[in-house]
Amino acid sequence: MSATHSQLLDAARKARLNACAPFSGFQVGAALLSVDGRIFAGCNIENCSYGLTVCAERVALFKALSEGARQFTHIAVVADTADPTPPCGACRQLLWEYGGDLEIVIGNLDAEKGLYRLKDLFPLPFEAKLFT
Ligand code: THU
Repeated sequence: MSATHSQLLDAARKARLNACAPFSGFQVGAALLSVDGRIFAGCNIENCSYGLTVCAERVALFKALSEGARQFTHIAVVADTADPTPPCGACRQLLWEYGGDLEIVIGNLDAEKGLYRLKDLFPLPFEAKLFT
């Protein structure tokens, strides 16, 4: 059986505790579910140049891709905010390219706060089929 939203949110909450976020103090966790039921979790990783920071969503995606996973259904994102914290534009681009129209489950430390489709958050994607 595939993981439930609450299992994914819990995996994202757990990963968030590993965030390397000394500059922003904003800790984020993500958990990506592959079609074969594996969960790949990630946290944001900052650095002193700031610009080389990688968001939790991309860390989870790169972990999954590097483990050979290629098809995904959901990603959960967790931050300590009252309102949903959605993926940034860079993450939307990569999630679209590698995950397609994912279901995005957004939560905070206590509850699920929103449910979105990536297509709705990223309606006019730049993609390889435009030029290949
Ligand atoms: N961040 C994420 O990890 N995911 C998001 O969805 C939004 C932003 C991180 C990047 C940076 O480390 C910190 O949050 C503040 O922008």
